[in-house]
Amino acid sequence: MTLPPRVRKAVLTVHIVSAGAWIGVDVLVAVLAGIGLGGGSAAVRGLALRALAEFVVTPMLVSALVCLASGVVLGLATKWGLVRYWWVAVKLVTNLVLCTLILVVLWPGMPDVGAAGGAIEAGGVPATDISFLVFPPTVSLTALAVATVLSVYKPWGRVGGRGRRPAGGRARRVPTGVSEGRPTVSA
Ligand code: HEM
Repeated sequence: MTLPPRVRKAVLTVHIVSAGAWIGVDVLVAVLAGIGLGGGSAAVRGLALRALAEFVVTPMLVSALVCLASGVVLGLATKWGLVRYWWVAVKLVTNLVLCTLILVVLWPGMPDVGAAGGAIEAGGVPATDISFLVFPPTVSLTALAVATVLSVYKPWGRVGGRGRRPAGGRARRVPTGVSEGRPTVSA
């Protein structure tokens, strides 16, 4: 599959914006979880937890899926492939694992978080332990930061060892004209 350069750039733009949005939502989760688990007033803690439970997981999942879909299109439409280069393959696995965690851990946990927020606002004690909220932003922000670094530096060369880059170096780049000023890596 190849894409006209303008279409490829549009997909790359969507990819980068969705990755940025995903990171932004993760920062929001970190802030709300921090307030909710922190030592502030009961009203503010409860509100933060209810906002987290109500509004955050859907935009996180949407941005993660858009990032995944646009990344897959870019991989298939360029010489990078999906599992041809380590930096892409690792991002693919990272994205899939994070989407799975959102669906399997975060989403089902939100009713408990909302209920805990309501209980705290009412001056009570949450019925369930919500300390797990520390992990989603920590794990996800770390993984997305690593994925961003991989995207920029594109390290480790090809899966299977063929065409490895020199240590610390960049891939041999051959301007093809196909990608409008973004040289693609020679196969
Ligand atoms: C895990 C979250 C991800 C983040 C944070 C991320 C971030 C980025 C960023 C910032 C770029 C731009 C790099 C540049 O132009 O120098 C990029 C490019 C790219 N990404 Fe991702 N990405 C992610 C997931 C994926 C996935 C799942 C795939 C495919 C399986 C993928 C495939 C690609 C490819 C092929 C490019 C290069 C496109 C091109 O230059 O034509 N990415 N990514």
